[in-house]
Amino acid sequence: MASLYDFPDIYDERFSEKANTVYREHYQKMFSGCEITDILDCSFGTGDLTFELCELGYQVSGSDLSRTMLAKAEQKAEQKGFPVDLTCCDFRELSQHFCRDFSCVMSTGNALAHVDNLGVEQTLREMDRLVRPGGYLYLDSRNWDKVLKNRDRFLYYPPFIREDGVRVNCVQVWDYHPDGAMTANILNAYESEGKIIRQEVYEEHWMPFSIELVRSTLKELGYRDITIKPLPYFQDLDFEEIGWYCLRARKPI
Ligand SMILES: C[S@@+](CC[C@H](N)C(=O)[O-])C[C@H]1O[C@@H](n2cnc3c(N)ncnc32)[C@H](O)[C@@H]1O
Repeated sequence: MASLYDFPDIYDERFSEKANTVYREHYQKMFSGCEITDILDCSFGTGDLTFELCELGYQVSGSDLSRTMLAKAEQKAEQKGFPVDLTCCDFRELSQHFCRDFSCVMSTGNALAHVDNLGVEQTLREMDRLVRPGGYLYLDSRNWDKVLKNRDRFLYYPPFIREDGVRVNCVQVWDYHPDGAMTANILNAYESEGKIIRQEVYEEHWMPFSIELVRSTLKELGYRDITIKPLPYFQDLDFEEIGWYCLRARKPI
């Protein structure tokens, strides 16, 4: 089954200027008062979530496992006139690909669940290696503790109309496997004048991880001020209520 990451144009269909504004405001809130100048996003994808940081004046670098996603990101960076350095690599081996540090290293877009729990821990350690003393580690993720508690199976997206008038309907159906892994079956139905004109199915694989795994690894690495908020951050909520969270933590000087 095809991965959506092999079809970056389709991956990008859902992003909009309105969504970008929401993320820009989110980052403004999360990074306000933090001494951050240069940022590496190690799951950059096509960059929609991260280009907003360029808009805010940060010097942004990106890496990702998918060359296809990065090729689209490169095109967009050129169009937008952002000088973004892009590297193709697995975030579990991040430090082998960079010989400099950053005031913030991040992983955006629920990417960490694409590797197993050992891989998540390894990635956090690799990210840490590139964080300057006094700098920040930041990530966002689906709240897997909540997903596993509720055994959610369906995720509906609000339909939207593309510029060419085609309405895009999308639903995800989640399968739970005995080894703890999950498959997201992503179903897209394209509709014009009330008729479905095209259907597509993609598949992504996740291995849920608990917030405790992240917290304990960061604490062991000496991180302080571990702050968890909803993504996007409009208001404070109890962790159990958050569907998608972000976490910011400070490395000691
Ligand atoms: C849901 S996308 C998020 C992309 C982007 N941050 C965004 O929010 O649109 C997840 C990304 O993680 C990347 N990814 C998955 N496994 C990875 C790994 N082991 N190392 C680096 N990137 C990985 C995928 O290629 C994909 O671009």
